[in-house]
Amino acid sequence: MTDISVTKVEKLGVIPTDDQLGFGKIFTDHMFVMDYATGKGWHSPRIVPYGDFAFAPATIVFHYGQAIFEGMKAFRAKDNQIAVFRARHYLNRFNRSASHLCIPPIDVEEVRSGLFKLLELDKKWIPGKLGTSLYIRPFIISTDDYIGVKVASTYKLFIILSPVGAYYDNGFNPVSIKVEDKYVRATKGGLGQAKTPANYAMSLNAQAEAHQEGFDQVLWLDAVHRKYVEEVGTMNIFFKIKGEIITPELSGSILGGITRQTVLELAQSWGLKTAERQISIEEVYEAHAKGELEEVFGTGTAAVISPVGELSWKGQKITINNNQTGELSQKLFDYVTGVQYGTVPDEFNWMDHV
Ligand code: COI
Repeated sequence: MTDISVTKVEKLGVIPTDDQLGFGKIFTDHMFVMDYATGKGWHSPRIVPYGDFAFAPATIVFHYGQAIFEGMKAFRAKDNQIAVFRARHYLNRFNRSASHLCIPPIDVEEVRSGLFKLLELDKKWIPGKLGTSLYIRPFIISTDDYIGVKVASTYKLFIILSPVGAYYDNGFNPVSIKVEDKYVRATKGGLGQAKTPANYAMSLNAQAEAHQEGFDQVLWLDAVHRKYVEEVGTMNIFFKIKGEIITPELSGSILGGITRQTVLELAQSWGLKTAERQISIEEVYEAHAKGELEEVFGTGTAAVISPVGELSWKGQKITINNNQTGELSQKLFDYVTGVQYGTVPDEFNWMDHV
């Protein structure tokens, strides 16, 4: 593994108090950077002061979006131990996204050690209060100075760190969701399973309209039939129907969430029945009509678990669990965050200690 050089910042930044934290506006003193060139591979891993960088206006990523990112979190446990939640899982997903965007794969172990060195250097920035964490944002951009459409031959990988509080303003309270029947997030054969900026750009119109109509988020249906449930906002979605926990299968247009995987593994370990299968919006509404729809919740790195209190499909509104956080949603949230903050034993070795 190549040595990682370190250039320290001259003047350390001011670390915010836990109460000043929102989401993603404050960044730590340093960042990790690495370059790629065809024939040379990934090279020159280094830690440098966090700061602006200059690129030519023709830089290919600005024009055609060949880019990927990840989102993961580091936590400070009570005993001041620093650990990253499922670090290798996220970095392996980074490589799966890379393959969908024709980006050369990273060496997961090399990038993980770069990240851990960065965390060691900036560990004072990791908040400790329940609900706070250090959000880790690795990303890769294509950097050829060329405006023809092609697979780039040069790239840059960055890892930046941001101390954060809650992602959603309403914290762990149930959200109201518009079932989206005009816009689609992704199609099979497209980029839906990759964590790439295009999927987030795609979501903006729908999200803006839903907000204007008074909803927090949208529920995405499949692009072909406008029938099968895919994701909610930027999260995966789960339904608890007659005791069974159902989430849409990863059919090619859905991002394979690490929290989604964690919830499935955890529910199974608790002896609950789980299913990864197609689920139509009609089935959800029918289950509700029969009194069998017990809980609905989203899962994602930022929010962990986000209970859904209301769904509205073609103007037909249903309320789930009296718009209250369900028992399972609460239990999952408490367990996962408990492991993250070190108050629940880490039975499944999710925490990767720095
Ligand atoms: C998440 O739910 O973790 C996300 O993907 C949100 C992120 C894009 C800020």
